[in-house]
Amino acid sequence: MKFIYITLALSLTLLFSCKKDNNNTGTEYANEMYHSEAYEPLSQIVDEKNADYNSNPNNPYKMNMRKPVSNTLKINKFNPNFGNQGVIVPTTYHINKDSFELSGRTLKSPLKAKTTFLADSAILVEQGKVLYTNFCSHCHGETGQGNGAVGVVYKGVPSYSKGRVKTDTEGHIWHTITFGRNRMWSHASQINPEDRWKIVLYVQTLQNQE
Ligand code: HEC
Repeated sequence: MKFIYITLALSLTLLFSCKKDNNNTGTEYANEMYHSEAYEPLSQIVDEKNADYNSNPNNPYKMNMRKPVSNTLKINKFNPNFGNQGVIVPTTYHINKDSFELSGRTLKSPLKAKTTFLADSAILVEQGKVLYTNFCSHCHGETGQGNGAVGVVYKGVPSYSKGRVKTDTEGHIWHTITFGRNRMWSHASQINPEDRWKIVLYVQTLQNQE
């Protein structure tokens, strides 16, 4: 008899633990084990009375993210010319994104400012070529004629060795990669500033082809 009662109780429990709503997981045991409450690093709510209060008491200033290491620079404060004597531009990002002319005139490659440039330049151009192949050639084409597989469909991709683009200076090209230009998007989030200068070196070899 006891056995029947137990079976009945179990079946009823099973029956009623199912719900119609597909999104309802039903009653869960120790649900914090499955659904941890994530700290949102960039949306910290510090007001303790707020129901969504999510500040992390274990971090400095109860921040949700860790405190950046000392000397960390905001990305748009990065200065690739830091430490290079005789280079005037304080921070490339102080130049407005529409100021191609100013960049073209004032931005100088920090790679070229290195005294060892001539000895290393072939390696740098080679590295620039690899980066160019990964990030640019699908639009601009292997030889910079604007005929990459994507470029042909995307349309309006210029040749590096014709018209005005042939005379684009290093600063202008760097600025184009950093901020984009018209239909070309910015590549700043994908390529670090130094690598952008390496690409510039390679693009310059493509500008100078026949
Ligand atoms: C999605 C396709 C695409 C990709 C990827 C792309 N570009 Fe462009 N690029 C364009 C288009 C389109 C233009 C023409 C922009 C315009 O109308 O002024 C252009 C223009 C340029 C110019 C000429 C700017 C001027 O002065 O008119 C340079 C230099 C250039 N790109 C370099 C690069 C480099 C270097 C990369 C890789 C880091 C790259 N592009 C990646 C599409 C692309």
